[in-house]
Amino acid sequence: MKKISLTGIKPTGELHIGNYFGAIKPALELAREYDARYFIADYHALNTIKDPRELSANIRAVAAGWLAAGLNPEEVIFYRQSSIPETFELTTMLMAFTAKGLMNRAHAYKAAVAENTEKKDDPDAGINMGLFTYPVLMAADIILFDSDVVPVGKDQVQHVEMAQDIAQAVNFNYKKEVLRVPEASVRENAAVVPGLDGRKMSKSYGNTIPIFAPEKELRKLIMRIVTNSQGIEEPKDPESSQIYLLYKLFAGPEEQAALAARYRAGGMGWGEAKEELFRVINRELTPLRERFNALMDDPPGLDAVLARGAERARPIAARTVARFRAAAGIDK
Ligand code: TRP
Repeated sequence: MKKISLTGIKPTGELHIGNYFGAIKPALELAREYDARYFIADYHALNTIKDPRELSANIRAVAAGWLAAGLNPEEVIFYRQSSIPETFELTTMLMAFTAKGLMNRAHAYKAAVAENTEKKDDPDAGINMGLFTYPVLMAADIILFDSDVVPVGKDQVQHVEMAQDIAQAVNFNYKKEVLRVPEASVRENAAVVPGLDGRKMSKSYGNTIPIFAPEKELRKLIMRIVTNSQGIEEPKDPESSQIYLLYKLFAGPEEQAALAARYRAGGMGWGEAKEELFRVINRELTPLRERFNALMDDPPGLDAVLARGAERARPIAARTVARFRAAAGIDK
Protein backbone atom coordinates (compact mmCIF):
# COMPACT_ATOMS: atom_id res chain seq x y z
CA MET A 1 0.00 0.00 0.00
CA LYS A 2 1.16 3.51 -0.78
CA LYS A 3 1.97 5.74 2.14
CA ILE A 4 -0.26 8.71 2.87
CA SER A 5 0.84 12.30 2.57
CA LEU A 6 -1.37 15.11 3.88
CA THR A 7 -1.05 18.83 4.11
CA GLY A 8 -3.23 21.80 4.95
CA ILE A 9 -3.22 25.02 2.98
CA LYS A 10 -4.15 28.19 4.85
CA PRO A 11 -6.33 30.43 2.69
CA THR A 12 -4.58 33.66 3.58
CA GLY A 13 -3.78 36.06 0.77
CA GLU A 14 -2.70 35.77 -2.80
CA LEU A 15 -0.42 32.92 -3.93
CA HIS A 16 2.97 34.13 -5.12
CA ILE A 17 5.89 32.51 -6.85
CA GLY A 18 7.60 31.92 -3.50
CA ASN A 19 4.64 29.66 -2.60
CA TYR A 20 4.82 28.10 -6.05
CA PHE A 21 8.40 26.89 -5.73
CA GLY A 22 8.49 26.57 -1.93
CA ALA A 23 5.24 24.69 -1.26
CA ILE A 24 3.05 23.94 -4.26
CA LYS A 25 5.56 22.26 -6.58
CA PRO A 26 7.15 20.10 -3.84
CA ALA A 27 3.70 18.98 -2.61
CA LEU A 28 2.59 18.10 -6.14
CA GLU A 29 5.77 16.09 -6.65
CA LEU A 30 5.12 14.20 -3.43
CA ALA A 31 1.61 13.42 -4.67
CA ARG A 32 3.08 11.23 -7.40
CA GLU A 33 4.71 8.95 -4.86
CA TYR A 34 2.13 8.99 -2.07
CA ASP A 35 -1.62 8.80 -1.64
CA ALA A 36 -2.11 12.52 -1.17
CA ARG A 37 -4.80 14.32 0.77
CA TYR A 38 -4.55 18.10 0.54
CA PHE A 39 -7.10 20.47 1.98
CA ILE A 40 -7.95 24.13 2.48
CA ALA A 41 -7.63 24.87 6.21
CA ASP A 42 -10.52 27.33 6.33
CA TYR A 43 -11.34 26.95 10.04
CA HIS A 44 -7.70 27.68 10.84
CA ALA A 45 -7.99 30.91 8.87
CA LEU A 46 -11.08 31.93 10.82
CA ASN A 47 -8.82 32.60 13.82
CA THR A 48 -7.39 35.59 12.00
CA ILE A 49 -9.81 36.53 9.20
CA LYS A 50 -13.11 37.87 10.47
CA ASP A 51 -14.34 39.53 7.27
CA PRO A 52 -16.65 37.03 5.55
CA ARG A 53 -16.04 38.34 2.04
CA GLU A 54 -12.30 38.23 2.48
CA LEU A 55 -12.35 34.68 3.88
CA SER A 56 -14.67 33.34 1.23
CA ALA A 57 -12.67 34.99 -1.58
CA ASN A 58 -9.41 33.60 -0.16
CA ILE A 59 -10.78 30.06 0.09
CA ARG A 60 -11.82 30.11 -3.57
CA ALA A 61 -8.67 31.77 -4.82
CA VAL A 62 -6.41 29.32 -3.02
CA ALA A 63 -8.40 26.28 -4.17
CA ALA A 64 -8.41 27.55 -7.77
CA GLY A 65 -4.73 28.41 -7.44
CA TRP A 66 -3.63 24.90 -6.49
CA LEU A 67 -5.79 23.38 -9.23
CA ALA A 68 -4.42 25.83 -11.81
CA ALA A 69 -0.88 25.05 -10.68
CA GLY A 70 -1.39 21.38 -11.50
CA LEU A 71 -3.12 19.64 -8.59
CA ASN A 72 -5.07 16.79 -10.17
CA PRO A 73 -8.22 16.22 -8.08
CA GLU A 74 -8.58 12.70 -9.46
CA GLU A 75 -5.23 11.80 -8.02
CA VAL A 76 -5.23 13.93 -4.84
CA ILE A 77 -8.20 14.01 -2.47
CA PHE A 78 -8.74 17.78 -2.35
CA TYR A 79 -11.33 19.27 0.03
CA ARG A 80 -12.22 22.03 2.44
CA GLN A 81 -11.50 21.31 6.09
CA SER A 82 -14.94 22.72 6.95
CA SER A 83 -16.61 19.99 4.86
CA ILE A 84 -15.31 17.26 7.17
CA PRO A 85 -17.29 17.46 10.45
CA GLU A 86 -15.35 14.45 11.77
CA THR A 87 -12.38 16.83 12.10
CA PHE A 88 -14.15 18.66 14.91
CA GLU A 89 -15.33 15.48 16.60
CA LEU A 90 -11.76 14.22 16.62
CA THR A 91 -10.51 17.61 17.86
CA THR A 92 -12.75 17.31 20.93
CA MET A 93 -11.54 13.79 21.64
CA LEU A 94 -7.89 14.80 21.24
CA MET A 95 -8.40 17.72 23.64
CA ALA A 96 -8.86 15.17 26.41
CA PHE A 97 -5.36 13.85 25.72
CA THR A 98 -3.61 17.19 25.23
CA ALA A 99 -1.74 18.72 28.13
CA LYS A 100 -2.45 22.41 28.50
CA GLY A 101 1.27 22.86 29.12
CA LEU A 102 1.95 21.52 25.62
CA MET A 103 -0.16 24.31 24.14
CA ASN A 104 1.61 26.90 26.33
CA ARG A 105 4.83 25.92 24.54
CA ALA A 106 3.53 26.44 20.98
CA HIS A 107 5.71 29.01 19.14
CA ALA A 108 2.81 30.97 17.64
CA TYR A 109 1.07 31.37 21.02
CA LYS A 110 4.33 32.18 22.80
CA ALA A 111 5.21 34.80 20.20
CA ALA A 112 1.82 36.48 20.66
CA VAL A 113 2.24 36.53 24.46
CA ALA A 114 5.80 37.87 24.14
CA GLU A 115 4.60 40.66 21.88
CA ASN A 116 1.90 41.64 24.39
CA THR A 117 4.39 41.56 27.27
CA GLU A 118 6.77 43.75 25.29
CA LYS A 119 4.00 46.31 24.83
CA LYS A 120 3.14 46.02 28.56
CA ASP A 121 -0.31 44.83 27.51
CA ASP A 122 -2.31 42.02 29.12
CA PRO A 123 -0.38 38.84 28.14
CA ASP A 124 -3.46 37.33 26.49
CA ALA A 125 -4.66 40.47 24.70
CA GLY A 126 -6.06 39.66 21.26
CA ILE A 127 -5.40 35.92 21.66
CA ASN A 128 -8.45 33.78 20.98
CA MET A 129 -8.94 30.13 21.97
CA GLY A 130 -8.66 29.22 18.29
CA LEU A 131 -5.06 30.41 18.29
CA PHE A 132 -4.33 28.74 21.65
CA THR A 133 -5.75 25.37 20.59
CA TYR A 134 -4.54 25.63 16.98
CA PRO A 135 -2.15 22.66 17.33
CA VAL A 136 -4.98 20.33 18.42
CA LEU A 137 -7.10 21.19 15.39
CA MET A 138 -4.07 20.67 13.20
CA ALA A 139 -3.37 17.32 14.92
CA ALA A 140 -6.95 16.28 14.16
CA ASP A 141 -6.54 17.27 10.48
CA ILE A 142 -3.50 15.04 10.29
CA ILE A 143 -4.51 12.07 12.43
CA LEU A 144 -7.98 11.82 10.90
CA PHE A 145 -6.52 10.61 7.60
CA ASP A 146 -3.95 8.11 8.93
CA SER A 147 -1.22 10.37 7.57
CA ASP A 148 2.30 9.00 7.36
CA VAL A 149 4.03 12.15 6.17
CA VAL A 150 3.10 15.80 6.43
CA PRO A 151 4.94 18.08 4.00
CA VAL A 152 5.39 21.45 5.72
CA GLY A 153 7.74 24.40 5.97
CA LYS A 154 10.10 24.64 8.94
CA ASP A 155 7.71 26.89 10.87
CA GLN A 156 5.15 24.07 11.09
CA VAL A 157 7.43 21.28 12.35
CA GLN A 158 6.61 21.93 15.99
CA HIS A 159 2.91 21.50 15.23
CA VAL A 160 3.51 18.12 13.59
CA GLU A 161 5.59 17.06 16.59
CA MET A 162 2.69 18.01 18.83
CA ALA A 163 0.40 15.84 16.69
CA GLN A 164 2.87 12.99 17.28
CA ASP A 165 2.81 13.58 21.05
CA ILE A 166 -0.97 13.64 21.14
CA ALA A 167 -1.39 10.49 19.02
CA GLN A 168 1.16 8.69 21.19
CA ALA A 169 -0.65 9.72 24.36
CA VAL A 170 -3.82 8.12 22.99
CA ASN A 171 -2.06 4.92 21.89
CA PHE A 172 -0.26 4.67 25.23
CA ASN A 173 -3.50 4.99 27.16
CA TYR A 174 -5.31 2.25 25.22
CA LYS A 175 -2.16 0.12 24.84
CA LYS A 176 -2.65 -0.29 21.09
CA GLU A 177 -2.20 1.66 17.87
CA VAL A 178 -5.54 3.42 17.74
CA LEU A 179 -4.12 6.39 15.82
CA ARG A 180 -1.31 6.54 13.29
CA VAL A 181 1.66 8.63 14.41
CA PRO A 182 2.63 11.09 11.64
CA GLU A 183 5.98 12.44 10.60
CA ALA A 184 6.91 15.87 9.20
CA SER A 185 8.61 16.04 5.83
CA VAL A 186 10.48 19.33 5.81
CA ARG A 187 11.17 21.04 2.54
CA GLU A 188 14.89 21.56 3.14
CA ASN A 189 15.86 21.72 -0.51
CA ALA A 190 12.94 23.74 -1.84
CA ALA A 191 14.22 26.73 -3.77
CA VAL A 192 14.55 29.97 -1.85
CA VAL A 193 12.91 32.54 -4.07
CA PRO A 194 14.22 36.11 -3.87
CA GLY A 195 11.61 38.85 -3.73
CA LEU A 196 11.53 42.18 -5.56
CA ASP A 197 13.82 43.76 -2.95
CA GLY A 198 16.29 40.84 -2.80
CA ARG A 199 15.07 39.48 0.55
CA LYS A 200 13.26 36.12 0.64
CA MET A 201 9.92 36.48 -1.15
CA SER A 202 7.26 36.75 1.54
CA LYS A 203 3.86 38.31 1.95
CA SER A 204 5.01 39.98 5.18
CA TYR A 205 7.79 41.85 3.32
CA GLY A 206 5.42 43.03 0.57
CA ASN A 207 7.97 41.97 -2.06
CA THR A 208 6.01 39.26 -3.86
CA ILE A 209 5.19 38.43 -7.47
CA PRO A 210 1.67 36.90 -7.50
CA ILE A 211 1.44 33.75 -9.66
CA PHE A 212 -1.75 34.82 -11.39
CA ALA A 213 -1.09 38.54 -11.86
CA PRO A 214 -2.39 39.83 -15.22
CA GLU A 215 0.38 40.13 -17.79
CA LYS A 216 0.61 43.92 -17.52
CA GLU A 217 0.92 43.87 -13.75
CA LEU A 218 3.47 41.06 -13.91
CA ARG A 219 5.62 43.16 -16.23
CA LYS A 220 5.31 46.22 -13.98
CA LEU A 221 6.36 44.23 -10.91
CA ILE A 222 9.38 42.78 -12.66
CA MET A 223 10.46 46.26 -13.75
CA ARG A 224 10.36 47.24 -10.05
CA ILE A 225 13.03 44.70 -9.03
CA VAL A 226 15.73 46.54 -7.11
CA THR A 227 19.17 46.58 -8.81
CA ASN A 228 22.52 48.26 -8.16
CA SER A 229 23.81 51.25 -10.11
CA GLN A 230 26.11 49.41 -12.54
CA GLY A 231 25.99 50.93 -16.04
CA ILE A 232 25.06 49.13 -19.23
CA GLU A 233 28.63 48.53 -20.38
CA GLU A 234 29.88 47.07 -17.09
CA PRO A 235 30.29 43.30 -16.78
CA LYS A 236 27.93 41.91 -14.14
CA ASP A 237 27.94 38.96 -11.77
CA PRO A 238 24.86 36.81 -12.49
CA GLU A 239 24.81 34.92 -9.18
CA SER A 240 24.54 38.09 -7.08
CA SER A 241 21.63 39.46 -9.13
CA GLN A 242 18.13 38.50 -8.05
CA ILE A 243 16.97 39.00 -11.65
CA TYR A 244 19.25 36.13 -12.65
CA LEU A 245 18.32 33.99 -9.61
CA LEU A 246 14.64 34.33 -10.54
CA TYR A 247 15.46 33.68 -14.20
CA LYS A 248 17.09 30.37 -13.25
CA LEU A 249 13.81 29.12 -11.77
CA PHE A 250 11.98 29.61 -15.06
CA ALA A 251 14.59 29.06 -17.79
CA GLY A 252 16.18 25.95 -19.25
CA PRO A 253 19.91 25.19 -18.78
CA GLU A 254 20.90 26.64 -22.18
CA GLU A 255 18.97 29.84 -21.60
CA GLN A 256 20.59 30.16 -18.17
CA ALA A 257 24.09 29.75 -19.59
CA ALA A 258 23.37 32.25 -22.37
CA LEU A 259 22.07 34.94 -20.03
CA ALA A 260 24.96 34.38 -17.58
CA ALA A 261 27.41 34.88 -20.48
CA ARG A 262 25.71 38.15 -21.44
CA TYR A 263 25.93 39.37 -17.85
CA ARG A 264 29.66 38.63 -17.73
CA ALA A 265 30.42 40.17 -21.12
CA GLY A 266 28.99 43.62 -20.26
CA GLY A 267 26.84 45.61 -22.65
CA MET A 268 23.55 44.45 -21.17
CA GLY A 269 21.71 46.80 -18.82
CA TRP A 270 19.32 45.85 -16.02
CA GLY A 271 16.32 46.88 -18.11
CA GLU A 272 17.18 44.32 -20.73
CA ALA A 273 17.79 41.61 -18.12
CA LYS A 274 14.35 42.34 -16.71
CA GLU A 275 12.78 41.99 -20.16
CA GLU A 276 14.38 38.55 -20.49
CA LEU A 277 13.08 37.62 -17.05
CA PHE A 278 9.57 38.79 -17.90
CA ARG A 279 9.62 36.69 -21.07
CA VAL A 280 10.41 33.39 -19.28
CA ILE A 281 8.12 34.01 -16.29
CA ASN A 282 5.23 34.97 -18.52
CA ARG A 283 5.86 31.92 -20.71
CA GLU A 284 5.46 29.58 -17.73
CA LEU A 285 2.67 31.42 -15.95
CA THR A 286 0.39 32.23 -18.89
CA PRO A 287 -1.26 28.77 -19.05
CA LEU A 288 -1.63 28.75 -15.24
CA ARG A 289 -3.23 32.19 -15.28
CA GLU A 290 -5.66 31.06 -17.98
CA ARG A 291 -6.67 27.98 -15.98
CA PHE A 292 -6.98 30.08 -12.82
CA ASN A 293 -9.26 32.63 -14.48
CA ALA A 294 -11.42 29.87 -15.95
CA LEU A 295 -11.82 28.26 -12.51
CA MET A 296 -12.60 31.60 -10.84
CA ASP A 297 -15.21 32.29 -13.52
CA ASP A 298 -17.01 29.03 -12.72
CA PRO A 299 -17.84 28.98 -8.98
CA PRO A 300 -20.23 25.96 -9.23
CA GLY A 301 -17.54 23.99 -11.07
CA LEU A 302 -14.98 24.79 -8.38
CA ASP A 303 -17.45 23.89 -5.62
CA ALA A 304 -18.18 20.59 -7.35
CA VAL A 305 -14.49 19.65 -7.37
CA LEU A 306 -14.16 20.38 -3.64
CA ALA A 307 -17.46 18.64 -2.81
CA ARG A 308 -16.30 15.53 -4.65
CA GLY A 309 -13.07 15.61 -2.62
CA ALA A 310 -15.04 15.86 0.63
CA GLU A 311 -17.20 12.93 -0.44
CA ARG A 312 -14.11 10.79 -0.89
CA ALA A 313 -12.53 12.05 2.34
CA ARG A 314 -15.41 11.58 4.75
CA PRO A 315 -15.58 7.76 4.86
CA ILE A 316 -11.86 7.67 5.73
CA ALA A 317 -12.43 10.24 8.48
CA ALA A 318 -15.45 8.35 9.82
CA ARG A 319 -13.40 5.16 10.18
CA THR A 320 -10.77 6.90 12.30
CA VAL A 321 -13.36 8.47 14.59
CA ALA A 322 -15.23 5.15 14.95
CA ARG A 323 -11.99 3.36 15.83
CA PHE A 324 -11.16 5.94 18.48
CA ARG A 325 -14.68 5.95 19.91
CA ALA A 326 -14.69 2.17 20.21
CA ALA A 327 -11.30 2.23 21.94
CA ALA A 328 -12.55 4.95 24.30
CA GLY A 329 -15.74 3.15 25.28
CA ILE A 330 -18.00 5.59 23.46
CA ASP A 331 -19.58 3.04 21.20
CA LYS A 332 -22.36 4.96 19.60
N1 TRP B 1 -0.80 25.34 10.07
C1 TRP B 1 -0.52 25.21 8.66
C2 TRP B 1 0.04 26.54 8.15
O1 TRP B 1 -0.10 27.54 8.81
C3 TRP B 1 -1.74 24.83 7.88
C4 TRP B 1 -2.32 23.52 8.32
C5 TRP B 1 -3.51 23.32 8.96
C6 TRP B 1 -1.73 22.25 8.14
N2 TRP B 1 -3.71 21.99 9.19
C7 TRP B 1 -2.63 21.30 8.71
C8 TRP B 1 -0.53 21.81 7.56
C9 TRP B 1 -2.33 19.95 8.70
C10 TRP B 1 -0.25 20.45 7.55
C11 TRP B 1 -1.16 19.52 8.13
O2 TRP B 1 0.59 26.58 7.08
